[in-house]
Amino acid sequence: MKGIILAGGSGTRLSPSTLSINKHLIPVYDKPMIYYPLSVLMLGGIKEVLIISTPHDVSRFKDLLGNGESLGISISYLSQEDPNGIPEALVIGEHFIGKDDVTLMLGDNIFYGQGFTTLFRKAIKNHEHATIFGYRVKDPERFGVAEFNERKKVVSLEEKPDDPKSDFAVTGLYIYDHHAVEIAKHLEPSERGELEITDLNKEYLKMNKLNVELLGRGFAWMDAGTHESLFEASEFVKNIQQRQGFKLACLEEISYYMGYINKDDLIDMGNSMAKNDYGRYLLDIANRKHIEQYWDDLVGHPMLEVMSHE
Ligand code: DAU
Repeated sequence: MKGIILAGGSGTRLSPSTLSINKHLIPVYDKPMIYYPLSVLMLGGIKEVLIISTPHDVSRFKDLLGNGESLGISISYLSQEDPNGIPEALVIGEHFIGKDDVTLMLGDNIFYGQGFTTLFRKAIKNHEHATIFGYRVKDPERFGVAEFNERKKVVSLEEKPDDPKSDFAVTGLYIYDHHAVEIAKHLEPSERGELEITDLNKEYLKMNKLNVELLGRGFAWMDAGTHESLFEASEFVKNIQQRQGFKLACLEEISYYMGYINKDDLIDMGNSMAKNDYGRYLLDIANRKHIEQYWDDLVGHPMLEVMSHE
């Protein structure tokens, strides 16, 4: 399974904050937004990641994450000339995907909740053709919307409908087989002049090859695409972290528990930021003697799910 994070776009909804910086580099509380989607892919066990951003911004992502070696994964980069739509990521990533399956994730999506890692890993394991994730929201008209029948089978998909047929938004996390590349190549732009991911999903739906996983009320899903939702996401992350003492989307921590880096690597990274809370957190993790000692604390922590499913 390969992973693609789409982190381009024009960021106009967050202007003026995004006039000189890419939206996905803006912090959500204490770390850049891109850490959140990258943490999801890493927790899913995906080690080969392609980040797609604008020609102007790719180098900034490289400055931040490099080739991924320090996290024990591989990160490559490509640019999207213009924000022509989400499915274009698959066309840009054609050679990267090859004949593999691919998880495409939007760079402004944040997922959190007990059981999320397990659910995502299961979806990857059982995956055939196309899998999308549905989440109930108050404002479905802002999103792609999926309508289901009584057997929880998708019967229709619509992009930002005026009159939504259900309250289930389609989140920005999609798992596809490599045929998605060819399908994406043949899509026509919508009325707003973009290739729509909903149109790609509709093609799978037509072929009866679209599976949906529903995220229940125990999960949090946010897209941080507006000032309001960005602020809410930051507040959410702050509250959870301060309450539990665990960080969300701490890439170094994930890498350590996944066994991609060792304790010395973690200590080095912690020391390089030892003057701030993030660095101290890394050192604290490295200094824990036995992870089992913290077993009870870790219940509900994504790392525990990872460890219990290896
Ligand atoms: O967040 C989930 C929603 O994302 C889905 O429910 C919708 O079906 C899907 O169309 C998308 O809707 P948005 O209106 O939120 O898409 P937006 O244009 O904001 O782009 C989402 C992210 O993808 C954003 O971080 C910018 C990036 N992007 C977008 C486009 C269109 C690119 O990098 N390049 C692009 O061409």
